[in-house]
Amino acid sequence: MQKLKAALIGCGRIGTKKHIEAYANNKEDVELVYCCDLNIEKAENAAEKYSERSGVKTHAVKGYDSILDKDIDFVSIATESGYHYQITVDFLNAGKHVLVEKPMALDTDHLEHMVTLSREKGLKLGICLQNRFNKPIQALKQKIDEGAFGRVFNATARILWNRNEAYYRQDNWRGTWELDGGTLMNQCAHNIDLLQWVLGGDLESVYGVIRNFNHPYIETEDFGVGILKFKNGTVGLLEGTANTYPKNLEETISVFGEKGTVVIGGLAVNKILTWRFEGEDTHPLMLEKDPDTVYGNGHTTLFKDFTDAILEDRDPYVTGEQGRIEDEIVLAIYKSTVEKREVKFPVSNVRSTDFNYFVLRDMLKD
Ligand SMILES: NC(=O)c1ccc[n+]([C@@H]2O[C@H](COP(=O)([O-])OP(=O)(O)OC[C@H]3O[C@@H](n4cnc5c(N)ncnc54)[C@H](O)[C@@H]3O)[C@@H](O)[C@H]2O)c1
Repeated sequence: MQKLKAALIGCGRIGTKKHIEAYANNKEDVELVYCCDLNIEKAENAAEKYSERSGVKTHAVKGYDSILDKDIDFVSIATESGYHYQITVDFLNAGKHVLVEKPMALDTDHLEHMVTLSREKGLKLGICLQNRFNKPIQALKQKIDEGAFGRVFNATARILWNRNEAYYRQDNWRGTWELDGGTLMNQCAHNIDLLQWVLGGDLESVYGVIRNFNHPYIETEDFGVGILKFKNGTVGLLEGTANTYPKNLEETISVFGEKGTVVIGGLAVNKILTWRFEGEDTHPLMLEKDPDTVYGNGHTTLFKDFTDAILEDRDPYVTGEQGRIEDEIVLAIYKSTVEKREVKFPVSNVRSTDFNYFVLRDMLKD
């Protein structure tokens, strides 16, 4: 079978841990040819980790300009969020498929451009929202798709984690409007995606409030809530915080329908806590241990799906069109906080840099 060639752009925490693991676990389908970082030592470290895990040598390179025209099929991007857009555009223009970390981008115009450019070029754009592949989430989605809930009424997503000063101080991009966004944009991206995915359909409006309760040294929010109204009548509730004392507590999604109730929680939506349908009030996955990492194990499956999507010339499981929705919800919550009103969908002309510290300073406190 044809083996794809790939490059990793950004060899920091998630690149070196989860992307390298996913490439090594999929070595039958894809060969990682380049590990690229502005810091060559990080690129070399990632290359070494890949070789150790896969037994295959790879090249470490500084910056990505030198590999734009190389013989590679796709890149995975794991740089600071604020750089995702430009790197995606550069590689799409160079004719490569792109798999990009969440959040896709921090600007509604950028989201639109990424999606349209990939379609115009006939190239795949996939988003690393790997929690969709969690086994409990797959079981839930199957129940929704089968219609087992009857009418779905509402769902709630809660992300009750802790990010301390050491976390934000480790890199100066964290907690900035330009390169990161706040806890809704970063830590809550996966569960916001799941919330909109399980409720389905188009959004009508979002009302939100953000605060910075306990992190005076970052620009962005450390807490946020949102009420999401969908055109199909369903309602989503969102609560995300980085202030849970003294450590991560849980990430939970609860779905309520006419004939079903499901709660999936644990550290990061990988444990079925409640499973109730007529004649069915347990699920075999309830016996499985909750993974002890917030990243889960979905990157390997997501990378496998992305390589298959290229080889079979079909859409990846998480497309750019799907991935952009959770970003738009967060940007709408920021806008709603500033304007103190419900924000109608579709949203356009909103970017996280609009919400710089000086604009939001008073609102984050009031
Ligand atoms: N899917 C998940 O569960 C998950 C988990 C953590 C982080 N993330 C996302 O992954 C991204 C990276 O997060 P991180 O914690 O690994 O950050 P990090 O700071 O540890 O790593 C980012 C790396 O990108 C490099 N870089 C920046 N510009 C570059 C360029 N032009 N070319 C090559 N390399 C470049 C930096 O030097 C750095 O080493 C963020 O968008 C974050 O939201 C996703």
